[in-house]
Amino acid sequence: MTQTETKPDITAGAYQGYQQPHRGESDELLVRTSRGTACGEYMRRYWQPVALTSEVEDMPRLIRVMSEDLVLFRDKSERYGLVHRQCPHRRASMEFGMCEERGIRCCYHGWLFDIDGTVLEIPGQPEGSVDIIKQKSTLGAYPVHEYRGLIFAYLGPIEDMPEFPVYDTLEIPDQTLVPYRADYVCNWIQVLDAILDPIHTTFLHSRMSRPQFSEGMAELGELAFYQREMSFLGSNTRRVGDNIWVRVNELVLPNYTQAGAAFSADGTKPIYYGRTAFSRWVVPIDDENTTAFAWAVFGDRADPHEYNTPEGPDLIEQGELMDRSYDERQRFPGDAEAVEGMGRIADQKMEHLAASDHGIIQYRKKLRKLCRDLEKGIKPKHTADYWSNPVPTYGGDTVLNVPRNDEDDSQLLKSIGETVMKLQFEVEKMTGDERDQKVIDALKRLEAGH
Ligand code: FES
Ligand SMILES: [Fe+2]
Repeated sequence: MTQTETKPDITAGAYQGYQQPHRGESDELLVRTSRGTACGEYMRRYWQPVALTSEVEDMPRLIRVMSEDLVLFRDKSERYGLVHRQCPHRRASMEFGMCEERGIRCCYHGWLFDIDGTVLEIPGQPEGSVDIIKQKSTLGAYPVHEYRGLIFAYLGPIEDMPEFPVYDTLEIPDQTLVPYRADYVCNWIQVLDAILDPIHTTFLHSRMSRPQFSEGMAELGELAFYQREMSFLGSNTRRVGDNIWVRVNELVLPNYTQAGAAFSADGTKPIYYGRTAFSRWVVPIDDENTTAFAWAVFGDRADPHEYNTPEGPDLIEQGELMDRSYDERQRFPGDAEAVEGMGRIADQKMEHLAASDHGIIQYRKKLRKLCRDLEKGIKPKHTADYWSNPVPTYGGDTVLNVPRNDEDDSQLLKSIGETVMKLQFEVEKMTGDERDQKVIDALKRLEAGH
């Protein structure tokens, strides 16, 4: 509109500020995770990380998971316990309790509870009454499992507790797993979505900000999405000079994610079956707060050890430090700015999804189905229903020397991308070196054939 014109061209969709809805609606089924909600019940059927091992010292630690206030502790016999915050006697908070040789003792009247929540001692009461109280009262407790510097808990019905899943990438020899946490002030789905949005690395992490990962990520590629028994995969196949770079992001239901190297993969150097450099769970703290509990991975198959610096985990998690000034965040936005900027709980029903959002559409649909199924009594599947540990995964990088040929290059990229995925699927029943060797040999044959 020029200064002399008084009427804007409303037919072209311009100046629709007043006409646009101002209040939207979130994807209620998925965003709510407290007890009794559909998604909260679904998420409680899986082991979830709830703290870093390093966060649990000699005193109990108050934590929040899926809107439950809980107390995590390690007793003097080095056993972990996770219990409800409130003592069953008169509701004092167990965060002020004392860790004992066996279990935790409430600060108020000294009742002692084992790590499984059973009452061990009720001091100061007449003999006959103690047994009756012990039978009637228990402190709510959840099973805990410590693995490679993260504390996991199972918050669901005890009879449905699944086997603890161990993913293949976490058992690769000679790599360093650095446990870390990244806290986001928004709903968990906003944080989780990014893993199945492989095109955002080109924009958010490269062109719109500064090169936060490798330079090659600024290239647009050919996107493809795959759905496996428990996994959703988003691949981005880019042309970098004479090379083709296939990068795969992965979500294993319900909230475990993996992606390839953050810094060292840039499409210029050959990589035969690189694996994940960051492995994380996106855990709802409550409906408006989320924590990614994760490992930054350093080694030959991930990012080299030289990137294992104090800043490494933040940079791998979101391309920038988590804690920085508003000015820095505006000039160089990372994932936190992108996903927290949507609001505490995004109005998903006001989104306009595009072809590149196919992976997000697919997994949200599946998640909704699994939540509704559980409401009807259909229990969700676990990795153990399909695989024994270690569970095969696919997130990572492969770079092959395949120069342009007479074919349309975008067709060539698509075909190489698909083949790289297919040959991994073909050998997924194998484990360890045998699987690695099969994939690497097949990649080299694929490269030689072009
Ligand atoms: S409130 Fe815990 S022992 Fe009394
Ligand atoms: Fe990102």
